[in-house]
Amino acid sequence: MCGIVGYVGNEEAAPILLDGLKRLEYRGYDSAGVAVVAPEGELQLVRRVGKLFRLEQELGARPLRGRIGIGHTRWATHGRPSEVNAHPHVAGPIVLVHNGIIENHMALRSALLARGARIASDTDTELVAHLIHFKLREGMVLEEAVRRSLLELRGAYAIALLSTEEPNRIVVAKSSSPLVIGVGEGAMFCGSDIPALLPYTRRMVFLEDGDFAVLERDAYRIHRIDTGERVERPLRYIDWSPVMAEKGGFKHFMLKEIHEQPRAIEDTLRGRLHREEGDIYSEEIGLSERDAQAIERVFLIACGTSHHASLVGRYYIEMLARLPAVAELASEFRGRDPIVGPRDLVVAVSQSGETIDTLVAAREAKERGARVLAVANVIGSAIPRLADASFYTHAGPEIGVASTKCFTAQLVALLMLAIWLGRRRNVLDPIKARELVEGLARLPLQMRDVIIGTKQLVSNLAKRHGNARDVLFLGRGFSYPIALEGALKLKEISYVHAEGYPAGEMKHGPIALIDVNVPVIVIAPRDRWYERTLSNLQEAMAREGKIIAIASEGDEAVHRLTQDVIEVPEVIEFLNPLLTVIPLQLYAYYVADQKGTDIDQPRNLAKTVTVE
Ligand code: M6R
Repeated sequence: MCGIVGYVGNEEAAPILLDGLKRLEYRGYDSAGVAVVAPEGELQLVRRVGKLFRLEQELGARPLRGRIGIGHTRWATHGRPSEVNAHPHVAGPIVLVHNGIIENHMALRSALLARGARIASDTDTELVAHLIHFKLREGMVLEEAVRRSLLELRGAYAIALLSTEEPNRIVVAKSSSPLVIGVGEGAMFCGSDIPALLPYTRRMVFLEDGDFAVLERDAYRIHRIDTGERVERPLRYIDWSPVMAEKGGFKHFMLKEIHEQPRAIEDTLRGRLHREEGDIYSEEIGLSERDAQAIERVFLIACGTSHHASLVGRYYIEMLARLPAVAELASEFRGRDPIVGPRDLVVAVSQSGETIDTLVAAREAKERGARVLAVANVIGSAIPRLADASFYTHAGPEIGVASTKCFTAQLVALLMLAIWLGRRRNVLDPIKARELVEGLARLPLQMRDVIIGTKQLVSNLAKRHGNARDVLFLGRGFSYPIALEGALKLKEISYVHAEGYPAGEMKHGPIALIDVNVPVIVIAPRDRWYERTLSNLQEAMAREGKIIAIASEGDEAVHRLTQDVIEVPEVIEFLNPLLTVIPLQLYAYYVADQKGTDIDQPRNLAKTVTVE
């Protein structure tokens, strides 16, 4: 989605803004712009369509002068990508950037036109700048003009603006779209996302919905939009390092992030495994023993890849904590008046912690009295802030649009949650729990072995099958969500049509698709579903599908059936998804790389989906 950066301090603003925008490139965009105000109030505005290098070239040829500015990368919602629709937008002395969607834009546009506003773009954003400008003309001071204008907006927004008449302050505001303030030494920053600010400061303040803030070089103040009342928000230290958000010698962030999985898992497990007791330490889950026993149902709500992790999590919770559990797409859960209440635990799973459907679904569940637990990767993001408690994954910043390391980190977080619940509810045998905990502790090394040990083979298979038009992924039990995830990875970055199916459903329709041109990737590790999955593999072979099997090490039976076998270490069955997904991530990566697609920023996609 769109990205915002702002800076006020002692340095030249333009290079800092450009650097911040580059760090937000992964969010996806179609145009970009910066506005810098010189000390005497001269506004310098540059906007370009397309990739950031166009903006960079222009700034190189015509450097901007000034120590305060705002920048933006735009992902078009209102109006096609064009220079005039790119942000920042200007109305009188007001210069403004915005993420999100202003829902009442049509009424606003008519009212502003009736008052004589000269609106240059098709965007909803420019309207906000005009609204503020009119209020300044009515005699309001900047802060009040902004506050009063925000009261007239409906929808989601994160806004940063400045006035050429007061070139020492940036005003920012937030409603259902992320915005963070970075507190530096003699400098203040704002951004829609943490990585934009990491090289400059790790001290961050997260605005709440309905907050606006005034940033000056040495200070910031936060107020409520509705009352104007001043409020305090906690200053948080973000321990991600800027290097974590760089490619580190890899061709793409996605490949780097696939390789980072062992570390992401180690960090997510750190301090949480009680190996002697076969238990999980976690205050963060935010439930007492009695609460855990009183829960009657668990809902896991999420979108996309996080939904696939939730589908596995659902099995974990049912099988280990013996609680009825369902994994629901947040976009389907919200708004249908779901039957959920005080005896239910709702686990909202989200890498970014900002996905609008998951956020709204969690809010609706909370309003009905359910206890909400967030499983998120971004500290202080909207979903954890709304939740009653947060059990964070510690995967570090994920930049590639295709989620990889956050998916596996979510799986271990959900497995830990299931073990914790199972122990508290006295339904999980301590010996089995110890086996699981020991298995988790060994996992990072095994993941490393899978990455190193399979990538050449997977890359060769991608060369052989990369031109297929359709690919089918099959799995049962824990491997069914992994089949869905393998298909999603392949389609989102390589644009190849792919379907994930529960292997048992194959006979009920998809088998008709199989012929000599269709690779069928069968996930068949040794587990309780193994024999039946093997029958499905044979059925696909009988239709001349090209079978690639993901199997446990040394599985001769699978080797006899097909020559293309990718082996993963044999582990306790609950851990299989953490290993079997890796070759599928690599397969998608190598197919896409061979096709030359934009792997880290696939077409039409954005890293964080904050609009509906
Ligand atoms: O930040 P979230 O985990 O809430 O995001 C949910 C989906 O948008 C996300 O997983 C998406 O499906 C990824 N691009 C998949 O790789």
